[in-house]
Amino acid sequence: MTAEAIKLVRQHLDQVHPAEVLDDATRADYRARIKALLVSRDAVLVAHYYTDPEIQSLAEETGGCVSDSLEMARFGKEHPAKLLIVAGVRFMGETSKILSPEKRVFMPTLEATCSLDIGCPPEEFSDFCDQHPDRTVVVYANTSAAVKARADWVVTSSIAVELIDHLDQRGEKILWAPDQHLGAYVQKQTGADVLCWDGACIVHEEFKARGVLELKKLHPDAAVLVHPESPASVVDVADVVGSTSQLIKAAAELPHQTLIVATDRGIFYKMQQLAPGKTLLEAPTAGSGATCQSCAHCPWMAMNGLENLLAVLEDENGCGQEIQVDESVRVAAMQPLNRMLEFSRSLKG
Ligand code: 13P
Ligand code: SF4
Repeated sequence: MTAEAIKLVRQHLDQVHPAEVLDDATRADYRARIKALLVSRDAVLVAHYYTDPEIQSLAEETGGCVSDSLEMARFGKEHPAKLLIVAGVRFMGETSKILSPEKRVFMPTLEATCSLDIGCPPEEFSDFCDQHPDRTVVVYANTSAAVKARADWVVTSSIAVELIDHLDQRGEKILWAPDQHLGAYVQKQTGADVLCWDGACIVHEEFKARGVLELKKLHPDAAVLVHPESPASVVDVADVVGSTSQLIKAAAELPHQTLIVATDRGIFYKMQQLAPGKTLLEAPTAGSGATCQSCAHCPWMAMNGLENLLAVLEDENGCGQEIQVDESVRVAAMQPLNRMLEFSRSLKG
């Protein structure tokens, strides 16, 4: 996406969903009501690291989960609650529904999507696959259920290198979608034959290597942590490249006291918890003359707030924010998703 297109997306989303500002009393009241409703509705809150700290802390305090997209999928599937409240973006809610069809899945808002999902329409993607029948189709979790249904494998960034390496060793050629930067990164790490779709994340694509290096000059002892959805030039200046959970682990384990972080700043909540006392700096996204130094926040993740979370819990049918997936699509998408979960279990084993 061009810088102009990104600006327009942000402006539109800011108008439609202005940031939630609540006074202390309202905030405390909402939190108490959400906690009570989670119990009375036999529900559990599953939140991504990029959501507002308000949401992440609620998930922690109520026995829910705060994690990366892979763990969110696993947690929702294994948890006994009848109702999953997924705070994140739409593909995360869909993944939960695909893996747990017997559960109802609500999201604070179904409008929370992802530029990678938007940039990979199922029909065009299916045509692309048809043009390359000799390739194993691997899609990133950040895709619609219909795109997953067309894939041989689903993968998240936490196991992408390992999976592509595994397929390469079996002699398979890969068709990768939708994130071109993550695709280029796994290709470089594994040497596999990877043909990439040309999608991108509007948040990570904005990080600038030059800005990171300038910040590093001011903090020469800092380590640079980068999510692989960032452009190759930014990945090249990283000390650690990894998924959200891998970056959090690195923040806690590295000896460095200062960390420059190139991913959504929502992750600072968990990093600060696990690496107390360390200084966390947002990697710059802005070129010279820009009005913000770093716009490293996913506008769709930011749509998850206390107000809409409370509203979906109060309404029997989740204010219409319930995830529905067509049954034939669900069954087809479940296979590559289960392969991913099985592969990740084998890595742990
Ligand atoms: P993770 O799979 O690391 O949670 O990342 C999801 C995502 O949307 C990154 O932008
Ligand atoms: Fe999608 Fe990027 Fe937002 Fe992650 S940060 S959900 S990849 S738009």
